[in-house]
Amino acid sequence: MQEQICAPVGAERLQQKASFTPLKKETSKVLAFVNQKGGTGKTTIAQNLAVCFDLYHDKRVLCVDLDPQGNLGQGLLHNQIDTPKTADRLLVVPKASINEYIIKVRPNIDLIHNRFQKELHEAVDRLPLLPDLLRRQIGPALARYDYIFIDTPAGLCRSTQIAVEAANQVVLIVSCGMYGLKDMIAVIDWMLENCNRLIKPMPSIRVALNNYDKHRRFDRDFKLELQRIFGDELLQTHIRPSVRIIEAAARGVSVVERN
Ligand SMILES: Nc1ncnc2c1ncn2[C@@H]1O[C@H](COP(=O)(O)OP(=O)(O)OP(=O)(O)O)[C@@H](O)[C@H]1O
Ligand SMILES: [Mg+2]
Repeated sequence: MQEQICAPVGAERLQQKASFTPLKKETSKVLAFVNQKGGTGKTTIAQNLAVCFDLYHDKRVLCVDLDPQGNLGQGLLHNQIDTPKTADRLLVVPKASINEYIIKVRPNIDLIHNRFQKELHEAVDRLPLLPDLLRRQIGPALARYDYIFIDTPAGLCRSTQIAVEAANQVVLIVSCGMYGLKDMIAVIDWMLENCNRLIKPMPSIRVALNNYDKHRRFDRDFKLELQRIFGDELLQTHIRPSVRIIEAAARGVSVVERN
């Protein structure tokens, strides 16, 4: 890694530096939101779930955006995020000061945001797949949270591998109308291969169905097919298509905060 990537830049440090969620003793549960297809709702579900965990269950959540599109930050914060301390940078910087990467976005929700920086993202793509890479970089801050939510980009790339490697649970986000359900099996095979390479157990898998309209015959058949493939791993709650979801994301709030 080149020197300039690793060097801290004083002026760019976070202003919110001191306002972190206080220490929590139990080990955090790490969830990765995954699908190799784009636009299935990974980011939307991670963002809305984080806010619901905060508001309704009083859980502390750290949202980590491993997608250089940076949509998770945009969904959680209406204001532009200026800090160059991105999740991509965190992955490639040795001995990163984790507190400089954490942005407070709600009383119980912190964020490590992302945005596309070519050199950094190429460096992430070149990272060797090592055990506990992300967990080591987050380090002692892990203990402050009940949950770590990791949003991943579309495609089975290094960032997604890193997220899956760190996760206790992978939430596969499937959108109704998505073709090629068999590809989902390929994703699971890919995860298994990675775990075998790292000599680690597979994270547990849950499948969340998005854009499900129970009035549409196609959607009901689609759900049956998912049930046939995934059985009990398919979550019972399905998310319907809703314009409120799109409007809320555009305003940097969750659906439950929209009114
Ligand atoms: N249930 C829903 N109803 C209506 N719109 C939705 C729903 N879920 C997601 N969307 C919209 O679909 C678009 C894609 O969602 P999102 O960005 O969450 O997908 P993604 O899987 O994260 O995409 P990417 O692979 O590009 O990261 C967004 O505009 C989002 O607001
Ligand atoms: Mg996304």
